[in-house]
Amino acid sequence: MSPNPLRNDEDRRLPRIAGPAGLVIFGVTGDLARKKLLPAVYDLANRGLLPPGFGLTGFARRDWNADHFAQVTKEAVQQHARTPFRERVWRQLEQGIRFVPGEFDDDDAFDRLAATVRELDAERGTAGNHAFYLSVPPSAFPLVCRQLARSGLSESEGDAWRRVVIEKPFGHDLASALELQSVVESVFPGDSVFRIDHYLGKETVQNLLALRFANQMFEPIWNANYVDHVQITMAEDIGIGSRAGYYDGVGSARDVIQNHLLQLLALTAMEEPVSFDPKALRAEKEKVLSAITLPEDIAAHTARGQYASGWQGGEKVKGFHEENGIPADSITDTFAAIRLDVNTRRWAGVPFYLRTGKRLGRRVTEIAIVFKRAPHLPFPLPDTVELGENALVIRVQPDEGVTLRFGAKVPGTVMEVRDVTMDFGYGHAFTENSPEAYERLILDVLLGDPPLFPHSKEVELSWRVLDPILQHWESSSVLPDAYRPGTWGPPSADEMMARDGRAWRRP
Ligand code: BG6
Repeated sequence: MSPNPLRNDEDRRLPRIAGPAGLVIFGVTGDLARKKLLPAVYDLANRGLLPPGFGLTGFARRDWNADHFAQVTKEAVQQHARTPFRERVWRQLEQGIRFVPGEFDDDDAFDRLAATVRELDAERGTAGNHAFYLSVPPSAFPLVCRQLARSGLSESEGDAWRRVVIEKPFGHDLASALELQSVVESVFPGDSVFRIDHYLGKETVQNLLALRFANQMFEPIWNANYVDHVQITMAEDIGIGSRAGYYDGVGSARDVIQNHLLQLLALTAMEEPVSFDPKALRAEKEKVLSAITLPEDIAAHTARGQYASGWQGGEKVKGFHEENGIPADSITDTFAAIRLDVNTRRWAGVPFYLRTGKRLGRRVTEIAIVFKRAPHLPFPLPDTVELGENALVIRVQPDEGVTLRFGAKVPGTVMEVRDVTMDFGYGHAFTENSPEAYERLILDVLLGDPPLFPHSKEVELSWRVLDPILQHWESSSVLPDAYRPGTWGPPSADEMMARDGRAWRRP
């Protein structure tokens, strides 16, 4: 097991194994549970990181029983787990599986859940330690939290702990996020609330900290003297699939810029924290988020789009407006690009460009630090026409790694200089596979280890950044631009960069 760079314990080299605990998942019949959460629980068990008596309880409206839920879990694990299926591990995990059917407004169902949790404590030794994972729409958070309080489930006794895990979106805008926060924190104390931003669980995102703070050579050039601009891209080649209910009215900026991309920006731009203690790390991220300024002319420095129908990967694909459940007049963005500035001594004058979209050229997430050009080139111009800017690119996914782009001489008799790349790939350098983000984050919840979870203040500051842009878009008469599937977004995204004399990278 790889060491956790974000822990200060003396025991950091030892595997971090969860103590006695149970996990209750609300919304267990949803996609996230099936594709990510249940497989991650199994992967943790398979890696020996869960206690033998671990309890896994599903809560949902369906009229299932524990056997049926166990069967569903097994299928999810067999289809989506990262590690091989092992009968022995599965049998052990299966013994701790329970299911409670019920609606969120059904007091009896929550009383049954409380009884199930007590029974797990008695039979499996979960010791009163339970995490409640709310894989449900945020509109259900207040009710579920109130029910957890009413049924006594949010209260722990003695050394036992109770934690709540909430999935993004944390609200729809600043006002609703603050409201949500106050409801959740009226039931669970702040340090028992774990907000999942699964990007923070990705190994490469954590590697950004290693790259920046474990090395000497990057820090001197990590500032406005050397950096021209930063591009953070999260592109997906898929459409919205069956998620119309969630996605319409939310859109790409709320879906991923408010959380994943602003977190990436904060980690890229922040100062070195005094330690990796959660408070110290958070303080640095908060400083960056507070120092972000929006462009004066939002229209000129942002772009949004919607995918049209067309061809992608040899397949005919639907346009956003033809997706099931999307109204023909929906103005929800499936592509968003924004320019932000970080008003600090380190970054003054260095724009940060963020973009994301569905049905783009390919699935890729990267942070590109694009450097200024050399102040002088002692080569005749024609010999350097193919020389771009130096760039350091952190590839979050896929092919996790880091690439450095710089100029090199083309072999031959003239001094022609062209871009080349130097590549570090996780897959080549290490034999272990990276754990899935959800494995890491669920384990951290069970361990009560908070550095990889955004604090409420970060959520609030991120909404403060995005709100004015969303308001501008919502009141604008300019509708999202259509773009063809398999491209890199609408023409307005390129125009926005061209206005600054720059261009998007083709990742
Ligand atoms: C989620 C978004 O947070 O991240 C989805 O809600 C998106 O719309 C997903 O598809 C992408 O995650 P990953 O880990 O595949 O990059």
